[in-house]
Amino acid sequence: MVHIKVLINCALPYANGPLHIGHIAGAYLGADVFARYNRLIGNQVLYVSGSDEYGTPITVRAEKEGKTPREIADRYYEEHLETFRNLNINFDIFMRTTWPEHSDNAQDFFLKLLNAGYIEKGTMIAPYCRKIGRFMPDRYIEGTCPYCHYPKARGDQCDNCGRTLDPQDLIDPKCILSGETPEFRETDHFFLRLDLLEDRLKEWISTRSFWKPNVVAYTQNFISGGLKRRPITRDIDWGVRIPLQGYETKRIYVWFEALIGYITGAKEYSKRIGNPDLWKEFYFDPEARNYYFIGKDNIPFHAIIWPAMLMGYG
Ligand code: 2FM
Ligand code: ZN
Repeated sequence: MVHIKVLINCALPYANGPLHIGHIAGAYLGADVFARYNRLIGNQVLYVSGSDEYGTPITVRAEKEGKTPREIADRYYEEHLETFRNLNINFDIFMRTTWPEHSDNAQDFFLKLLNAGYIEKGTMIAPYCRKIGRFMPDRYIEGTCPYCHYPKARGDQCDNCGRTLDPQDLIDPKCILSGETPEFRETDHFFLRLDLLEDRLKEWISTRSFWKPNVVAYTQNFISGGLKRRPITRDIDWGVRIPLQGYETKRIYVWFEALIGYITGAKEYSKRIGNPDLWKEFYFDPEARNYYFIGKDNIPFHAIIWPAMLMGYG
């Protein structure tokens, strides 16, 4: 039997609350069985996950509890480790996106894509709270859903009807911290040029015949409307810094850097075992297989954005 290299990546859970049965059944248990199976038949396995610790999922929880984002991340990182230990789920490495090595990797990706023209500067309209004196992330704006009239819809999504929203869509939007009506102002950001990668992505996706049918259907539907550039920075201070002058009050968007966590995990594991180039065998060997165990909500990020980032990076 031929033995192959198998990279198994498991979605990085947000360090903002306990893991529940949906996480375990949906992603981690299956991955662990798959890792054990591959080891048993003699394949060389690298099994990676980690803790997703930046962005509004963490800051919203911190504000609710009167804690710092770091305190929240530390608490749930430890708690998640404990849960995995109790269930005997054994990653080779469970990294943290707040590790300095991860910021280095994320900034390297950002700069390389910027220099290659796949990231560009631009402006967007975002909610600004005059009382607090800053731009507010979409999740910090609540109002009435324009579709189902649910009164507590968030600026990014309505939890009642499930539609994704822009804060500007909300009827009577309010800042959740101050209670004030936000103003909509222009703000400078960086954008990932998915449009430039559309043809390559389409061609590549058409060769993914082994993806699960729901993933293929979702992805084709997503792409059929044409790909637009997407903002990959935010007005927030809890995140990976933008490695350029003049952007000190902004950070890299949590999804853009969390995906790079898979590479950070693989690299750090390789260093720990004294073979710092080992991770490359799993990413560059054309015979190596890469598997992702993720929840449904994560499909667009893994099936479109992450491949686009990797293509742009080269
Ligand atoms: O949905 C989530 O829980 C995200 N934290 C998953 C991130 S997966 C990848 F980007 F690391
Ligand atoms: Zn709604």
